[in-house]
Amino acid sequence: MKTTAVSFRAAKGQRKLSMLTAYDYTTARLMDACQIDALLVGDSLGMVMLGYADTLSVTMEDMIHHCAAVARGASRPLIVCDMPFMSYHLSPEQACANAGRLLKEGRAQAVKLEGGADFAEHIRLMVRASIPVMGHLGLTPQSINALGGFKVQGKAPEAAQKLLDDARALEAAGVFSIVLECVPAPLARLVSQRVNVPTIGIGAGPDCDGQVLVWQDMLGMVSGLSPKFVRHFAEGGETMQQAFNAYAQAVQNGTFPAPEHCYGMDEEVLEKLR
Ligand code: KIV
Repeated sequence: MKTTAVSFRAAKGQRKLSMLTAYDYTTARLMDACQIDALLVGDSLGMVMLGYADTLSVTMEDMIHHCAAVARGASRPLIVCDMPFMSYHLSPEQACANAGRLLKEGRAQAVKLEGGADFAEHIRLMVRASIPVMGHLGLTPQSINALGGFKVQGKAPEAAQKLLDDARALEAAGVFSIVLECVPAPLARLVSQRVNVPTIGIGAGPDCDGQVLVWQDMLGMVSGLSPKFVRHFAEGGETMQQAFNAYAQAVQNGTFPAPEHCYGMDEEVLEKLR
């Protein structure tokens, strides 16, 4: 069954929701055949696909390009596309126009933006234009320079209160769901109890209404230290490297290609060649 923003929202309290990032056609096709509820074309693509140190350099064109590829590969899950840094900050009109591009050109079915009450007007305008919006609170990577690093958010009393207020403001503005990133688990539980839209956690504990992970993280493809909240559901990076090495060796020792990988032709044709 196709997941829509409406059915995604309605799942709160009924069952847990799963979301994974996706950035390309092949991976989206694989995920389409699994039970993932939503694919997030995250601006994390700047880091895991393009090799930037953070998400700030990602452009609207990058997001449209990758989102359209994902949309060609997946028809069943809900496709949510991130609004990149500075594509919605200037005004509600700028936000709405760029969100519209992600739906028209990228074939997204919903957009996600980072930030709280400051963006309520932006969200209202998008929702009025029939664009489903997902919020994103806690560690908001586009604010990395203002936050001073990738750190857990909402530990201090004022910060915890602001996060709860922001979640309520997003809900009132019309979001259908809210991502909570790197938030203490008890605070994420409280927010999940106090809002009526599903919360989707990443580093926010088990009591959110759903979870999201970056697929390269959960498949163990990123070298170096993983964040505390990541579980490797497979050692995909190791498996790929073993396969790459096996291929290189087979080419070197002449066992690849084997006869079954070769096209034959009529000997006579060869003999007549001068
Ligand atoms: O860009 C992204 O991948 C995200 C998730 C971490 C929620 O926003």
